[in-house]
Amino acid sequence: MNIEPAEKISGIAEIPGDKSITHRAVMFNAAAEGKAKITRALVGEDCLSTVSCMKALGAKIEREGETITVEGSPEFKNNALCDCGNSGTTMRLLCGLIAGKGVRATLTGDASLSTRPMRRVAEPLALLGANVRTTDGTAPLIVEPAPLHGCIVETGVASAQVKSAILLAGLGASGETIVREPEKSRDHSERLLSAMGADIFVHQNAVRIRKSRLHCVDVDVPADISSAAYFLALGALKGEIVCPRVGVNPTRTGILTAFDRLGVIYTLQNERLVCGEPVADIVVKKSAMRAITLSKEIMPALIDEIPVIALLCAFAEGESVISGAQELKVKESDRIATTAEMIAALGGDIRATDDGFVIRGKSKLQGGKVRSYGDHRIAMTAAIGLAASENGGAIEGAECVNISFPDFYRRLAGLGN
Ligand code: S3P
Repeated sequence: MNIEPAEKISGIAEIPGDKSITHRAVMFNAAAEGKAKITRALVGEDCLSTVSCMKALGAKIEREGETITVEGSPEFKNNALCDCGNSGTTMRLLCGLIAGKGVRATLTGDASLSTRPMRRVAEPLALLGANVRTTDGTAPLIVEPAPLHGCIVETGVASAQVKSAILLAGLGASGETIVREPEKSRDHSERLLSAMGADIFVHQNAVRIRKSRLHCVDVDVPADISSAAYFLALGALKGEIVCPRVGVNPTRTGILTAFDRLGVIYTLQNERLVCGEPVADIVVKKSAMRAITLSKEIMPALIDEIPVIALLCAFAEGESVISGAQELKVKESDRIATTAEMIAALGGDIRATDDGFVIRGKSKLQGGKVRSYGDHRIAMTAAIGLAASENGGAIEGAECVNISFPDFYRRLAGLGN
C-alpha cells in the first residue's frame, strides 16, 4: 500500500463502531434471553470472530451491513469449537462466559493469538473453580464444565479482558464474586451487564457481581476512539478533522489527556449519553506540539493508542518518555518493538526501552518503507506517519486494518486535498 504525503487535510472522518463495545454487545446478548438489535456495529474481522463463536455456542445471529440482530441462547451448546481468529477479546471473555455456563468448549486462534498469554484468565478463573486448560499458557484452550463459586480476585494486571472474563464467570457462580485491579481498566462490560439486568456493583477499581440472568438489550454502538485516534492525530499534524459521535467513556480517553499535555488543540462538542456510554463529536486542529511524559497509571486508558501517540511525539519538540507500557509486548504484535521499528523507518528518532520508548521529536519525518507485522494498529499509525511525512512511502502488510477498520485507507484518501 503506497501512501502519498498529504498537502493539507480537512474534513469529517466517519469512524466505525467501537470494537470493545461491539464484542460485548454481540457476546452478552447472545448469552441472554430475548432478542436485540445492535446498530452501527463494527463489522471488522475481530468482531465477526465473536459472531461466529456465539453462533457455534447456539445463538441465532444475522447481519445486514452494520446492523446485527441477535436471538440469545442462555443455554450454550456443549462441545462447541470456537475459532477466535486474531481476537484476544473474544478468546479471553469467552473463557469466563463459557465457564459460567457449565459446558465444554474448545477455543482456538490464529498464529498471533496463539502466542498471547492465556494464563492471565485461566488462573483467576480457577480460583472460582473453573477448569480452563491452556496449551503451555496459550491457545488452544479447553474449557471443561465445573461448578463455580464466587470469591475475591485481585488481578495482577489492569486488563479489561481479564476483569470481564471473571465477571462473566461470576454471572454463573454461586455467591458473590469481587474483582479488584491495580488500575481501573475500561468498564464497557460493567455498563452493559448492568443494563442487561446483572446484579453488579462498581466501586473505584473493584467490581462485585452475583449470579444473574441477562435479558437482551438493543445497543447503538458509538464510534471507536481507538480508531478515531489515527484521524485525530492526522488533524493535529496536518489540518482540521471532525470525528462525529466518538465514545468518550472516561476509561478510554487517555488520548485526550495526552493531547492536553502535547498541546493539541481540540474540542468536544454535543456531549451526550448513548445506550449508557458517553459520546461526543471531537474536533482537532493543526497544533504545535511539545514533548510529554506518560507513565504506568494512565496506560489502561490509552494502551491501544500508544503507537499513534508515539508518532505524535516523533513530531513534538523535545524528548518524550513513555514508560510502564509493558503490556504492549503481548498485543497483536510486540508493539514496543514494532512501533519503534516503524517510527524509525519513517525517519523518527525513537529508542525502545523495557517498558516503553524515549522519542526525540523532529519537525519533519522523511517517510519510507514500513512493515506492519500483521498488526492493525501499527499499519494505521504508519499510514498517518506517511501521510504527514515529506515523501510518503509504502506499508508492507497493509490489509490487517480489516481487523478493526475495514474502510481505513479509503477514508484516509478522502481527507487529503
Ligand atoms: C480490550 C482491552 C484491552 C485492549 C484491547 C481490547 C477489551 O486489552 O488492548 O484492544 O475490549 O476489553 P487488555 O484487557 O488485555 O488490556
